[in-house]
Amino acid sequence: MSKFTAEEIVDINNKFKTPEEVLKWGLDNLHPKLALASSFGAEDVVVIDMLLKLNPKARIFSLDTGRLNQETYDVMDEIRKKYNTDIEITFPDAHEVIEMVQVNGMNLFYDSPENRKLCCGIRKVHPLNKMLGTLDGWITGLRSDQTQNRGNTIKIEIDEQHNSMIKLNPIIDWTWEQTWDYIKANNIPYNKLHDKGFPSIGCEPCTRAVKPGEDLRAGRWWWENDSEKECGLHMDHKK
Ligand code: ADX
Ligand code: SF4
Repeated sequence: MSKFTAEEIVDINNKFKTPEEVLKWGLDNLHPKLALASSFGAEDVVVIDMLLKLNPKARIFSLDTGRLNQETYDVMDEIRKKYNTDIEITFPDAHEVIEMVQVNGMNLFYDSPENRKLCCGIRKVHPLNKMLGTLDGWITGLRSDQTQNRGNTIKIEIDEQHNSMIKLNPIIDWTWEQTWDYIKANNIPYNKLHDKGFPSIGCEPCTRAVKPGEDLRAGRWWWENDSEKECGLHMDHKK
């Protein structure tokens, strides 16, 4: 449960505007029960840089689904070395994965939206929920123009999907261009798949490169309808 009321959250949103102000507010009020969820995409490495400059002991966790790209593991290690930071890794529950693949096969996600969501549930959502159960607040690299659902997301919110804990989205109003300007200006390690046409990176079997002019998320679960392209980590604000 958040120790802040809805009214206080409105005031705090009005007071703290820049990503650094939002992160500092979070660190001052919630550390060490605050952590950044990082998939090591462009947005997340920006937030890592800002967060660790404010507090080198700030916490970062990553949900290793067991199906990530080698390039994602590479950038994880580059970040660990550059900032001399720990990255807390979560893994899916082995029994859940074994049962899922015994019944549905290794590549079940291509068979139906239900199977895809089952896999995201077991490999991402359950480990996320377990990690969030130990925290009072979490930080994301969400940007509002990534999906329609994210258009209503605000910088500091009460996360009703996760026991009303605090959720910080410090770069929610940033553009893709701003994100890359920050990466270049601060010489931050980034996932090399971004240089190969992957703007949005999830798991290896479920992400492809996009063509020039295609939507930034067109390569995620590319075989599904656009309306289904969320994995359950973030609440659907349309509901
Ligand atoms: S997803 O819901 O479609 O998979 P997306 O890739 O856009 O999410 O990432 C949005 C935010 O969710 C990231 O900035 C990060 O905070 C969090 N996130 C996504 N995937 C992971 C992951 N594997 N581990 C930790 N955090 C993640
Ligand atoms: Fe499974 Fe694909 Fe979801 Fe990764 S993105 S958890 S492989 S369905």
